[in-house]
Amino acid sequence: MIELKEVSKKFGDTQAVNLVSFKVDEKETLVLLGTSGCGKTTTLKMINRLIEPDEGQILINGEAITNQDPDTLRTGVGYVMQNIGLFPHYTVAENIAVVPKLLKWDKEKIKTRTQELIKKLHLPENSLSMFPHELSGGQQQRVGLARALVADPAVLLMDEPFGALDNVTRTSIQKEFKGLEELKRKTIAMVTHDVQEAFELADRICLMDRGKIIQIGTPKELLYRPINDFARKFLAGQRLALEFKVVNLQDIWSYLPKGTLQDGKSLSDDLNIWDAMELLRSSDRSQLLVSGANNERKSVNFEQLTKGFNEFQNTQAHE
Ligand SMILES: Nc1ncnc2c1ncn2[C@@H]1O[C@H](COP(=O)(O)OP(=O)(O)O)[C@@H](O)[C@H]1O
Ligand SMILES: [Mg+2]
Repeated sequence: MIELKEVSKKFGDTQAVNLVSFKVDEKETLVLLGTSGCGKTTTLKMINRLIEPDEGQILINGEAITNQDPDTLRTGVGYVMQNIGLFPHYTVAENIAVVPKLLKWDKEKIKTRTQELIKKLHLPENSLSMFPHELSGGQQQRVGLARALVADPAVLLMDEPFGALDNVTRTSIQKEFKGLEELKRKTIAMVTHDVQEAFELADRICLMDRGKIIQIGTPKELLYRPINDFARKFLAGQRLALEFKVVNLQDIWSYLPKGTLQDGKSLSDDLNIWDAMELLRSSDRSQLLVSGANNERKSVNFEQLTKGFNEFQNTQAHE
């Protein structure tokens, strides 16, 4: 769907992006992860021609974007800017209507679609006539997302979409974002410097440093198969929390004891360790009933969960 082939960009003496190549498959979320200044924003902006590369090629749907008119391109590619980037002197409704107006939609169509998005993104109805500064950071973020989604583009580019939010708001918006039907259909390239966020939202992560790609892979691959010291160290600080999120009950299934047969509603084995622990902690249950392959069922308590996880970790370390 999106393909970059050996793309480079220099600003004066700064090599912002250096021979970057990757693909984002249809309906996939690829997260560009790296510290500030490593070239994430520049890479993203080249995909919708806000910045032109010095070298290399970018294709969307197999066609070079240089053959596509920049304005047409931008209406087919939704863009959520870093620091939200709403027009301060436009109302919320006007902010959302920017692309539809470019596309010459009639008033009624703009209104219907805007109202639909306001509902889906849980913005108050009366916010449409407000100005961005009258909204909370989280609400502004939702307007930014509505603006990017309004013309239902197949491709969505998001630059630190939750970067301007406090931690609590950020975590809850991330969860909501993951559940949005409208986003599940889209091919998404997203930028963040936040490791947790990347792990939460990515199908695959593209780890960058000083304009170059260090490693591309699933969160699990980055954790358990880091390609070099840089990749290992990048995740080191939050390693345990990340492991709890990427390892699921399926991974530790063989280390769990055979359970006694029980009736009742069972959980799926794609539940991750973190969520399983949360469930055990927040409910009065001392064990969870889980369904694995071939409808095999096991009951898991906290101790078995921890033990299974440790055994899984050991096998990973020895490979
Ligand atoms: N318009 C510009 N003019 C000069 N230097 C720039 C410009 N945009 C970005 N840079 C430089 O290019 C590098 C990468 O920037 P950027 O892509 O914004 O990084 P990131 O989004 O990962 O923080 C940085 O060193 C930055 O200072
Ligand atoms: Mg940036």
